Amino acid sequence: MTKLLVTGGAGFIGSAFVRLVLGSGGASQLVNLDKLTYAGNLENLLPVDADPRYRFVHGDICDAKLVNNLVADLKPDVIVHFAAESHVDRSILSPAPVFETNLRGTFTLLEAARLNNTPRFLHVSTDEVYGSIDAPHEADEHYPLRASSPYSASKAGSDLLALSYFVTYKLPVTVTRASNNYGPYQFPEKLIPLMISNAIADQPLPIYGDGMQVRDWLYVDDHCRAILAAIEHGRPGEVYNIGGSRSLANVEVVKMMLALLGKPESLMVTVKDRPGHDRRYALSSEKLMRETGWKAEMPFEQGLRATIDWYRAKSDWMARVKSGEYQSYYEKNYAGR
Ligand code: NAD
Ligand code: DAU
Repeated sequence: MTKLLVTGGAGFIGSAFVRLVLGSGGASQLVNLDKLTYAGNLENLLPVDADPRYRFVHGDICDAKLVNNLVADLKPDVIVHFAAESHVDRSILSPAPVFETNLRGTFTLLEAARLNNTPRFLHVSTDEVYGSIDAPHEADEHYPLRASSPYSASKAGSDLLALSYFVTYKLPVTVTRASNNYGPYQFPEKLIPLMISNAIADQPLPIYGDGMQVRDWLYVDDHCRAILAAIEHGRPGEVYNIGGSRSLANVEVVKMMLALLGKPESLMVTVKDRPGHDRRYALSSEKLMRETGWKAEMPFEQGLRATIDWYRAKSDWMARVKSGEYQSYYEKNYAGR
């Protein structure tokens, strides 16, 4: 049976991964190392909290002593590395924490894995490292890296660092690059949960620029299954793209969401665009599908409906998440637009 060390397991995708793995009997032990930044929320893990296979460690992936001791004691079969500063707008407002966690944190984990001969390291990355892609092209894993924001530059850097550990030290690292995730428990700074939350409250929906930027939407559980497939059947030293095969302009997404909620399109307001805003992301996931048999299963309309239903049912979760730091972030990001 497998011992897993998961970083960032209290966040949106990490917590979905922890719930999925423990729910499907996929680990004998799972340790979740998380700093609990604004984005980390132990409420996301209540469904597994009492599971004897699960243990939470509150700590920073940049803390080399803590990380080394943890890896040496646990001797994980696999490290699945989600922890990151994950939001582009925040990375623009305040880049320092992004480079600290996404670069130094990834380096610290890789070093611990190298020194303790960890048999498998899965580095979770993003399609944003390829930058904006002109239609009708799609990025495969050999596409040049052209990061536009501090966030995407930090992820591109951490990808290269991770792959260098395979080349130089033969650490069995695999990198996955996923497209835009959506689903339950996502922090309401990202497009879909922010728009759902504002629409439910009849608040304005801030559309950056002309709203015609294209993203490829991936349901979070499809992403988590893809990561498991990459661990099980993917090859060390390789990169695997994970796309949802559903490209939509932002305004199309928001209009679909408003229709499902029965709210008027007049809630949408155009605001000043994000600096350096990538126009279009598009991925080919052919390699992962061919090598592992994985494919995205959730149709976007169904996933969006399920997501809206979840946020409607969890108004208390949303209220707690939006109290405190969220208000000052919202002011800072949206007031000047
Ligand atoms: P998130 O912001 O919801 O969660 C990040 C988690 O990492 C939080 O629990 C936070 O507390 C933790 N964390 C942050 N800094 C830490 C540190 N220094 N030490 C320990 N823990 C720390 O992020 P997410 O959306 O779940 O993304 C998870 C990963 O997936 C990230 O690496 C991100 O780059 C990648 N990714 C995200 C998407 C997406 O659409 N959200 C798409 C592709 C890839
Ligand atoms: O592509 C994968 C990436 O997707 C991940 O690596 C990132 O962690 C994740 O945050 C996401 O990045 P994006 O910048 O694409 O996601 P975001 O939800 O912030 O924005 C999606 C699109 O919606 C983008 O074109 C900007 C636009 N937008 C976003 C917000 C928050 C708006 O128009 N208004 C908004 O208020």
